[in-house]
Amino acid sequence: MEEKLRIIEKDARQAMASAGSLEELNEIRLKYLGKKGELTQVLRGMGALSAEERPRIGQVANEVRASIDQELAARTTVLKELAIGQRLKEEGIDVTLPGVPVLRGGRHPLSIVSEEIQTFFLGLGYSIADGPEIETDYYNFEALNLPKDHPARDMQDTFFINNQTLLRTHTSPVQVRTMEKMAPELPVKIIVPGKVYRRDDDATHSPMFSQVEGLAVDRRITFSDLKGTLDLFAREMFGPKTKTRFRPSYFPFTEPSAEVDISCVMCGGKGCRVCSHTGWLEILGSGMVHPQVLEVSGYNSEQVTGFAFGMGVERITMLKYGIDDLRVLFDNDLRFLQQF
Ligand code: PHE
Repeated sequence: MEEKLRIIEKDARQAMASAGSLEELNEIRLKYLGKKGELTQVLRGMGALSAEERPRIGQVANEVRASIDQELAARTTVLKELAIGQRLKEEGIDVTLPGVPVLRGGRHPLSIVSEEIQTFFLGLGYSIADGPEIETDYYNFEALNLPKDHPARDMQDTFFINNQTLLRTHTSPVQVRTMEKMAPELPVKIIVPGKVYRRDDDATHSPMFSQVEGLAVDRRITFSDLKGTLDLFAREMFGPKTKTRFRPSYFPFTEPSAEVDISCVMCGGKGCRVCSHTGWLEILGSGMVHPQVLEVSGYNSEQVTGFAFGMGVERITMLKYGIDDLRVLFDNDLRFLQQF
């Protein structure tokens, strides 16, 4: 029996050493070591051996098995390497070529500016709130003092989904949504960054754009709080020399309302092409929250007041970086984006 085992060992090793492929090697493995393989068969016969012979033959069998396994492993390694070499030759891969560079991503200028605005107001104790971009007529208009036939609806050309549902035209609906949730808790101090939609499309308007809304409601909030806050904001965003100007304006949800201008970032106020020779650039809309808006949101307008403002992030980004066409912000051209 020992002799038989040694013959199997020799045959198996020889066969393996000359196997030309991994498939062939596997067939040889099955031939000797498989369930019906030659070695397996011989080992099955061990039961018939005498008690003295069994340990000795057992040891030989183990040696044979280990020796075949070793040859199998060695030949597998060799054949695998051969297979890789063969593939490289066939596919013409030159492993000495430099790899494909992995580009590093960066933040979009709109994200940079939006986050800068948020950081400023977080520093003043505001928290961030948000609301849905698919909004109801009620929150986008009605609750903000813009009933169905109100002419001021024309200022915001709207994408309607159906009679009651639309793409929000501004972030102001989040004013009402947040106050409803918080009332009668005070103070309310939130900023709302988010996307808004209007039917506009030219070099300075896009049908989708970004706003940051602000809202502060408390006892004894005054117009000077609004002025002080936005003045500080302008100097933080555009430099310490920046001046602000509050121009009377109209929004149905604020009273009084003001449009805020900053001294021109290009000429400092002397007058140039960017500011159409006025020395001023409009950056946002604002005002004291209309008593009606406080009331529909659950606050007593006899006891609390508030201010609100809303700014366009694209516009602020363009002024800050001297970009004259808004569309480059959405083209995703790396030559543009890599400058930030
Ligand atoms: N929601 C207004 C707009 O988009 C801006 C605004 C916000 C004005 C808050 C006043 C107060 O035009």
